[in-house]
Amino acid sequence: MPKSKKKKTIKKKIAKRGRPRIKKEVKAKVKAKPAPPQPLIKATKKMPQLLRGFKDILPSEQKYWNLIREKAESLSLTYGFERIDLPILEETALFVRSVGKETDIVEKEIFTFTDRGGESICLRPEATASAVRAYINHGMLNLPQPVKLYYIGPMFRYDRPQSGRYRQFNQFGLEALGDFNPVLDAQIIIMCFNFFKELGIESNVQINSIGCPGCRKEYKTQLINYYKTQKSGLCEDCKNRISKNPLRLLDCKEYRCQAIAEDAPQIVDWLCDDCKNHFVKVLEFLDELEIPYNLNPYLVRGLDYYTKTVFEIWPGIGQNSASDENGAEQAAGKDAAGKKAQSALGGGGRYDNLVELLGGRPTPAVGCSIGIERTILKIKELGKDVPSQESPDIFIAQLGEAAKRKALVLFESLRNEGFKIAESFSKDGLKNQLDNANKLGVKYALILGQKELSEGTILLRDMEGGIQETINYNKIIKELRKRLGL
Ligand code: HAM
Repeated sequence: MPKSKKKKTIKKKIAKRGRPRIKKEVKAKVKAKPAPPQPLIKATKKMPQLLRGFKDILPSEQKYWNLIREKAESLSLTYGFERIDLPILEETALFVRSVGKETDIVEKEIFTFTDRGGESICLRPEATASAVRAYINHGMLNLPQPVKLYYIGPMFRYDRPQSGRYRQFNQFGLEALGDFNPVLDAQIIIMCFNFFKELGIESNVQINSIGCPGCRKEYKTQLINYYKTQKSGLCEDCKNRISKNPLRLLDCKEYRCQAIAEDAPQIVDWLCDDCKNHFVKVLEFLDELEIPYNLNPYLVRGLDYYTKTVFEIWPGIGQNSASDENGAEQAAGKDAAGKKAQSALGGGGRYDNLVELLGGRPTPAVGCSIGIERTILKIKELGKDVPSQESPDIFIAQLGEAAKRKALVLFESLRNEGFKIAESFSKDGLKNQLDNANKLGVKYALILGQKELSEGTILLRDMEGGIQETINYNKIIKELRKRLGL
């Protein structure tokens, strides 16, 4: 049918039927304004709260973070570690495969969710697996080995929050990939020890070897046999661990389980020759440098990827040299209630099979991570004086609009000259401004008023002695350099 004829027929049909009848409620719906698009996140009138286990790091806290970042960076560079920044979000599967399906981290603590593309992703609970993924993804196997990396950044674990245990916390981590040599295990332990020593925190190294899959297999059989005879005395978690994750039976926090662990077979008695030699060499290197350590047969760590050396850094002096009862208890990792304390400042070990497990060539590796919040808690507990590093030397005060304009220019020129300066241009009273200068602890205040403007001078006030001198405005930079010894 030609197009024009078809159109006419349709028009005729409509005319015959008349206008379609629309029910009242349908009409109302059509007339009503379209519903606004639903926000993805529902707004409530409640005051927004910080999530449990999360923390704001306020300006007053930053001096501790700067101190730790500087120490971590200088130590890493001295030992030849290069910085790597890894993403906070990763595929959940990365941690299921590496940390282990039946570990607390993956079973109970991982912040995992499905993204808009339907992928299961998570907030990283740790960064060793990410470092290995990056090592494989970027072909670092082809670089001179070992590849030594360090990172500083946040990790996330849905744990029960308490002092020193948060849901978001930060780690300084070291990973050395591509070398079997036990000297690397020792070097990483020494770095951790030095990190705390240089921050004025006494620490001790708890160390063990959990062997390789070969020797661990036989040991696990022995361990399971022993624990089956002790099942009735164990906590519920440990009853499950017998079949799921027997090594973790050894480091249960429950007192009754710890008592049972004391008579359990010890892995060092089951190490193969290679693992035994490796362990002895690590200890010899530590002896050589007089690093205090405690052989701890219960130390197994909570992540599945470890092989051979495992270690933790605990606060306090070592068990053997503990000078008082508290020190010894702390060094043994027990709190006042006799429960194992949650106080490791850092931990790590060898993970010789992880690169291969995640799809790379067989590549040995060793690393550790230090908890930054726990380190800061220790610094505060010890009452260490941590100066604010960016404290200014000079404060610029001004009186009146014209002086304020000139003070703005002076601020910029002093900043360009590299001086550390402060101001409170939004305040007008001189007393207010000098109070601020006092709080900041500056050495000198520069004061510009109407009189100084007209005379081409500026007042230089020594904040400690309170003496004020009039200086030629054009000579102020030279004068400040002389006085600050710059
Ligand atoms: P990790 O023992 O799970 O090891 O964590 C290392 C350190 O992070 C702990 O010793 C502790 O100081 C801190 N930490 C852990 N969980 C929390 C928390 N919930 N709140 C505050 N601080 C915490 C690892 O993460 C491994 N990736 C270490 C490693 C690196 N192994 C080989 N290379």
